[in-house]
Amino acid sequence: MPSDTTSQKIMQSVSIDDFVTGLHQLRENDFTEVQGTLEYLRANPVDPESLQPYLFWNAQHYTRNLIDKTELYELLAICWEPGMKSSIHNHKGQNCWMAAPIGRLAVQNFRVISEDLGAHRCNIVPTDEVFITAENPVAVDPLNPVHDVHNPREWNQRAVSLHVYSRPFDSCIVYSVEQGSCGEIGLQYTSKYGKLC
Ligand SMILES: [Fe+2]
Repeated sequence: MPSDTTSQKIMQSVSIDDFVTGLHQLRENDFTEVQGTLEYLRANPVDPESLQPYLFWNAQHYTRNLIDKTELYELLAICWEPGMKSSIHNHKGQNCWMAAPIGRLAVQNFRVISEDLGAHRCNIVPTDEVFITAENPVAVDPLNPVHDVHNPREWNQRAVSLHVYSRPFDSCIVYSVEQGSCGEIGLQYTSKYGKLC
């Protein structure tokens, strides 16, 4: 029986510098559509060691660390201590892809039943949960873009996720299931290009 070389192929990791060089070579419609950038992330797992200059840790909150930004996209590394969780949020109509070079993360998706931003009221319900790992980058579904990201305490390990956002955005809508509320918040960086802000 012939061996299945495809499934046995070991993926070669790339440095974050090479990863950025490759991102620069993608075309605009790789970012406006979901598949091109997702395939790029799948084919180019990032070497965790090369990320060290961009990683900053905070015991109270996950950190957002800018690695690269163009008119088309921004690339962030987000550092998650065990038990940390994002708000439930959307991405302002922009695409988002996530990979986890260190540890792994859970993404809980939500469906928006109703949303009235002016009145700060919403009704959202949880749908599926997906996991981001080094081998399994994830794209946010543009039709159902509301989600949270968390690093469950019971996994007991730090995680670092890489996020490609296209186009860059500096605010988003956050949601509360319990209170049925929503509102816009501004987004800040913890560090830019390896330097604390
Ligand atoms: Fe997100």
